[in-house]
Amino acid sequence: MILVTGGLGYIGSHTVVELCVKGHQVIIVDDLSNSQLSVLDGIEELCGHRPIFERLDLRHKNGVESLFERYDITGVIHFAASKAVGESVHRPLQYYENNLGALVNLLQGIKKKGGTNFIFSSSCTVYGEADELPITEAAPVKPATSPYGNTKQVGEEIIRDTCKVHPKLKAIALRYFNPIGAHPSGKIGELPLGVPQNLVPYITQTGIGLRKELSVFGNDYPTEDGTCIRDYIHVMDLARAHVVALHRLKEQRNEDNYEVFNLGTGNGSSVLEVIQSFERVSGQPLNYKIVDRRPGDVTEAYADTEKANKILGWTARFTLDEAIASAWLWEKKNRLG
Ligand code: UD1
Repeated sequence: MILVTGGLGYIGSHTVVELCVKGHQVIIVDDLSNSQLSVLDGIEELCGHRPIFERLDLRHKNGVESLFERYDITGVIHFAASKAVGESVHRPLQYYENNLGALVNLLQGIKKKGGTNFIFSSSCTVYGEADELPITEAAPVKPATSPYGNTKQVGEEIIRDTCKVHPKLKAIALRYFNPIGAHPSGKIGELPLGVPQNLVPYITQTGIGLRKELSVFGNDYPTEDGTCIRDYIHVMDLARAHVVALHRLKEQRNEDNYEVFNLGTGNGSSVLEVIQSFERVSGQPLNYKIVDRRPGDVTEAYADTEKANKILGWTARFTLDEAIASAWLWEKKNRLG
């Protein structure tokens, strides 16, 4: 049975569906702090059955231990974490307690159980402004610019250190580039609380009329059109990568019992290119204006995907237009029914 923490969240819910489709039994744990129980209905429709769900805050050590006692957990995919970069700057302790406290509790639960396979949601944020593009896994980790980013770096270190001394714990950290899009059915997708901080939900909410206009954060970067470049990856490609990584863990035989993989498409797109993609797939113009740079943004980040291609046998399949089209379908279904 695969334990998926944060399984009602954005990437978690898509991964749960992918796991179910591939025949895995899943138990979802979520504290509903940034997700809604109704997501379980969408998952049920797509899976054909309702996976086991437990509402639990992973900071509660006893609750975590009890999970490992009550279920035969053979793998853990750990998504549950707070992820708002700006908020983390104002509430560092909340982020360290929630993201790192929960991780330590989970690893202790796993240790007590005698070990298992473990997948950690990391982020390309660990590379900061990389010296070379595309970014390989060998690129140095740069000092984090936010407590959120730091929880990803330290989280990776905690797992790596633990794997070294517990041979029955095998782990993979997946460094996501920029996840976007939704399940092609439009039954599950991203549900940002309040005003979205990320580009694509802001675009689709502007397109639907919920926001007046998109602010493009700077057009004076040293890129072709002056806007920042990111590697936008369809959440369905990400979800599939988690299932592939679980298989990899079964045969992982490296000394450290720990590996890191970039998950991206390998292609960089500028903010203006993403806007153009939205206009193309939606057939409507987008209201936007250029404003000042957002502090903390890096100029360019896109993945070297060779390691994931070679070792996991995984490659992103969806194009930017397909990902944006799915995000738009989700926005329309979610808002307009
Ligand atoms: C952000 C986080 C990153 C995190 C990821 C999670 C920062 C600095 N980084 O990545 O750590 O892992 O989200 O999804 O916050 N943009 C606009 N207008 C907007 C929103 C965004 O122009 O209203 C631009 C940004 O300047 C950036 C690009 O769109 O160039 C993507 O932004 P965003 O979706 O927030 O992702 P990241 O900043 O790359």
